[in-house]
Amino acid sequence: MTDTLLDDVALQPNPLSEGLSQGRVPLPCVVVIFGATGDLTQRKLVPAFYALAADGLLPPGFSIIGAGRTEQSTEDFREGMRKSVERFGRVPLRTDVWNVFADGLRYCTYDLDHPDGLHALHETLDELDRERGTAGNRIFYFSIPPSGFAALAERLGTEGLSHADGSSFRRMIVEKPFGHNLDSARALNGKLHVAFKEDQIYRIDHYLGKETVQNLLVFRFANGIFEPLWNRQYIDHVQITVAENLGAEGRGAYYEESGALRDIIQNHVMQLVAIVGMEAPSNFGAETVRDEKVKLLRAVRPIHPDDALSHTVRGQYGEGWIDGERVPAYRQEHSVAPDSLRETFVAMKVDIDNWRWAGTPFYLRTGKRFPKRATEIAIQFRRVPHSPFGGNTATPVGLLPADSIDPNLLVLRIQPDEGITLRISAKTPGQSMTIRTVNMDFLYGSAFLKESPEAYERLLLDCMLGDPTLFAREDEVEEAWRFCTAILDGWRAHPPDPNDCPNYEAGSWGPQSSSDFMARDGRQWRRL
Ligand code: BG6
Repeated sequence: MTDTLLDDVALQPNPLSEGLSQGRVPLPCVVVIFGATGDLTQRKLVPAFYALAADGLLPPGFSIIGAGRTEQSTEDFREGMRKSVERFGRVPLRTDVWNVFADGLRYCTYDLDHPDGLHALHETLDELDRERGTAGNRIFYFSIPPSGFAALAERLGTEGLSHADGSSFRRMIVEKPFGHNLDSARALNGKLHVAFKEDQIYRIDHYLGKETVQNLLVFRFANGIFEPLWNRQYIDHVQITVAENLGAEGRGAYYEESGALRDIIQNHVMQLVAIVGMEAPSNFGAETVRDEKVKLLRAVRPIHPDDALSHTVRGQYGEGWIDGERVPAYRQEHSVAPDSLRETFVAMKVDIDNWRWAGTPFYLRTGKRFPKRATEIAIQFRRVPHSPFGGNTATPVGLLPADSIDPNLLVLRIQPDEGITLRISAKTPGQSMTIRTVNMDFLYGSAFLKESPEAYERLLLDCMLGDPTLFAREDEVEEAWRFCTAILDGWRAHPPDPNDCPNYEAGSWGPQSSSDFMARDGRQWRRL
């Protein structure tokens, strides 16, 4: 395959520009993926870029440089990426689209330990600017272990690669984990800022790219009827669940460092809390939306380390059964210590100290090796204050008490079965006033008959367009860490009792202590 000159690209009928009409085609640019031989590049990044290409949403001349420490030819890199797209892509590979896309793929090695270690990268960038008209527009994707973030950012700075001259853009995308506590997140922000300004930094949280999470904003702020109810007066409590049926799988080493609180609550779940709880932004500008999210996160009541045990539940899965298959305990997973106390389950109660939410708790839970995968937000409304209806047996004075009528529930299903369900009470047909709950359902699949793009597609495109709305700003990340770090401090001071670890079976909904935790508040977790 030969490299295509810019003029040729412009003259050819280009499947990559079919989407110009959608008005969301970025300027020509190069994306440099550091960590190009890693899992994320193969499973998510390149398939997402390819899907954008197939939808005609990439600019002419769009190019990717896979940068890695191991030697590989561009041809081999292309071949590897083709296989990744075939295996992991959302859309089937089409040869005409692939050929144009693959023309823009390059591979080069880099070595930060060597003074000339970015030489090949410089050369390839210059070559792409000349040949494909990418005009100095660059995005650096940090798909590398977090211990390397600061050094890479600094080096890009000293090599003059992070600085844009005004006619082009330079941006960086950084993957989580973004620090492991508040201090390290702050330190990392400080180091990145030496080379990149805040408006050049795109901290990715793939939950924000999910259609259903974006729809949460639309649901709240494009529907007038829910907003008056969206507060402490009408909502009893909120439950946010991120349930996974997978275990630590091949990520034992990472998970031993991280655990469920850092892996899911600090980022994905706190983002959901912010979106459910925030005030209406006056516009959908990146700073306006993120300002509102930060205000909400600041209102989250800190859990003092001394209270961590009474406000949270930790768990770790033992062996068990999922979908008829025997699955190992966490401690039996690869790279996990046989006596590990690392949490694979967390539940907690979050109070929000503002006028909208005072007295309406948010309960959060996440865990690995649940019976199924399900992420949802359930808004439980208050019960009717009084029931005017007689009992099922139509006894004239034996009234059906208000607490026997199920309260309304609004369930926003993030995944799978994406959709929204509103539970209401209805009269069962017949001669007596018997009440049963029924569901009003909106299902993405049947309402739109269209497949949703993957989260990474949306986020990568937004970054190319320079729209950081769906990326976490420095202060959001720090606020989420402020909350989680206090809990981690409390947990460290009070490690779990080794005799009570593991404390839930794989294939169950978490430890008994989590149900007891809810029962203490007179509530229960939803059965999903
Ligand atoms: C990642 C976590 O951020 O999110 C994983 O590191 C987790 O442990 C994954 O499995 C869940 O993402 P999704 O999109 O499958 O809900």
